[in-house]
Amino acid sequence: KRPIIIDTDPGIDDAVALAIAMFSEELDVKLLTTVAGNVGLDNVTDNMLKILDYVEKDIPVAMGAHEPLLKEMSDASSVHGLSGMEGFDFKPASKRLLLEEHAITAMRRVILESDEPITLVPIGPLTNIALLFKVYPEVKTNIKEIVLMGGSITRGNKGVMAEFNIYFDPDAAKIVFMSGLPIVMAGLDVGMKALVLPEDSAKIKDMNKTGTMIYSLFKHYRGGSMQTGLKMYDSCAIAYLLKPDLFEAVETFVDVETKGELTEGCTVVDLKGYLGKEPNATVLTDIDSDAFRRWFVESINTCI
Ligand code: BDR
Ligand code: CA
Repeated sequence: KRPIIIDTDPGIDDAVALAIAMFSEELDVKLLTTVAGNVGLDNVTDNMLKILDYVEKDIPVAMGAHEPLLKEMSDASSVHGLSGMEGFDFKPASKRLLLEEHAITAMRRVILESDEPITLVPIGPLTNIALLFKVYPEVKTNIKEIVLMGGSITRGNKGVMAEFNIYFDPDAAKIVFMSGLPIVMAGLDVGMKALVLPEDSAKIKDMNKTGTMIYSLFKHYRGGSMQTGLKMYDSCAIAYLLKPDLFEAVETFVDVETKGELTEGCTVVDLKGYLGKEPNATVLTDIDSDAFRRWFVESINTCI
């Protein structure tokens, strides 16, 4: 099993990605860390603990950053609801899995203790990962790669050019892209095509407990837009780990616009090599949408 740490801000599409990863036979989720993003840190951590109670998984959780490194907070409650995971009636979270350690301390411990190099899977803003590298750079020796959801080659979903996770904390994103570690960027170019259609949602509704939970959350995702298809951004990172053949990719240089008159938070993906820099990322450029939908339904079927 491939050892991974997921850093997340659940988040409805985060919840889907988490469920698939936790029930995968091929992944060993060693630690879950939370970061402010879709909504504030207390809410996303509470959401994380509720999911774990519901799916009866015992993976430790550590809380990370309350705020971006330099920027003012923004959020995505218009997409995920005020609590960040609106739409399902969870029991109050038990806190049984919440560590006292800070996310970056827990990450350091898990990374350095692991026999096999760890893959980091950030599916929220990159604040925790940037802090980890600045405070504990020694972890880099035992990280295999970073497979992240964020950024875009062509356009944004938070600003004209900026994707939400990068826009939320562009300074952190820049630190991560410049870290020297192998990075896979699953951005909007694939996330917007990773669509779950109404017939897929109907299939998972009564499939199992997890399917019922996800279906219920879907009814509230993006203010209830199930009919037009729902974008499973964060699941793209998990899908890449489990089924890389679903994607097309290029090796290229990516930088982050931390300031800009119109482009703050934009990932600058230098496909033509104008900047003359060595590639620092594998950028996913396309996805087989039909195969992704089949994978999504099959994956939910393996959950409880
Ligand atoms: C990203 O923003 C969040 O709202 C989603 O969970 C995803 O990680 C997509 O831009
Ligand atoms: Ca997310």
